[in-house]
Amino acid sequence: MSDDPKDQLDALSTSFREEVEAALDEDALYAVQVKYLGKKGLVSRQRAHMGKLAPEQRKAFGQAFNQTKGALEQLLAARREALTEAARSLRLARREDLTMLAQRRSAGSLHPITHTRRRLEAVFRGMGYDVLDGPHVEHQQYNFDDLNFQPDHPARDMQDTFFVQGRAGTDVDPLVLRTHTSPVQIRAMLTRPPPVRVIAQGTVFRRDDDATHSPMFHQIEGLCIDRGVGMADLKATLYRFVQAFFGSDLQVRLRPSFFPFVEPGAEFDMQCPFGREPSCRVCKGSGWIELGGSGMVHPAVLDAVDIDPEVYTGWAFGFGIDRMAMLLHAVPHMRLLFESDVRFLEQFPC
Ligand code: PHE
Repeated sequence: MSDDPKDQLDALSTSFREEVEAALDEDALYAVQVKYLGKKGLVSRQRAHMGKLAPEQRKAFGQAFNQTKGALEQLLAARREALTEAARSLRLARREDLTMLAQRRSAGSLHPITHTRRRLEAVFRGMGYDVLDGPHVEHQQYNFDDLNFQPDHPARDMQDTFFVQGRAGTDVDPLVLRTHTSPVQIRAMLTRPPPVRVIAQGTVFRRDDDATHSPMFHQIEGLCIDRGVGMADLKATLYRFVQAFFGSDLQVRLRPSFFPFVEPGAEFDMQCPFGREPSCRVCKGSGWIELGGSGMVHPAVLDAVDIDPEVYTGWAFGFGIDRMAMLLHAVPHMRLLFESDVRFLEQFPC
């Protein structure tokens, strides 16, 4: 490079211009600015030459320096504006590209069982019931013994029940995956003095697997313990529930049945909300849908939890939430409810 300060200034101007042109974004531009025009930048340092020049040259160099510096600053400002503008129009162009495929956001929704369960709970809450859940791994005592299941009852069989720890006749406290929500009746009565009005809901487990049974499913159960309650209160409650849930005047009927923890025991059916069509896939033309089991709490169960059966009576009922969801939505196979297949689940936008 020439020793002449003016030549040096010109050479710096040239490389400055090149580098400014090459800077493609704000950061790169700033780096060039610091390199040349910063306090100790290449151009700024040229000012030091002033002191070494003869007085007659000094003025001319001073003018040239200021001119050059001014021009470079203008160049920098122009480039900065151009870059900002380019970035802006790129952003706008991206945003307004109508040829871009729209990204469909899936909103997600409640699982049909959760949706059904929440609706069921809301109905019973409205009637003054507390909603409870209990542990899935349950004492055999609460799942069977205190509910008056005899030691040889077939439900206790390995065929029906998942044993988690111990078997009858051993010293270990036998634990099972609860086969129904009824042990929550025991837990409720052990912890709440009567009157008791509770709903128990949650997951239950049985060794069962076909189109309408799954080894894991969900139940909802009602329990009412008070002085002087009877079968008529049970039926009235079921009737009110069906009305509130399905929103129309559907009848409920009880059919004698057996469950060890109720006496008398009954299965309960509701009238099919789709009428009595011979071709109806829900009630198969019978006009009635089987919902679940019910009955008056057995005195032996009240004894087991130290409630005097001479003073208090009570009723209970229980049915499957999954079956209810299947009925409501005409789901052909229970497994569909548990496979988490989005194509199935997105059909329930609730
Ligand atoms: N626990 C019973 C079952 O799982 C249902 C039931 C509940 C029956 C309450 C009577 C009273 O089949």
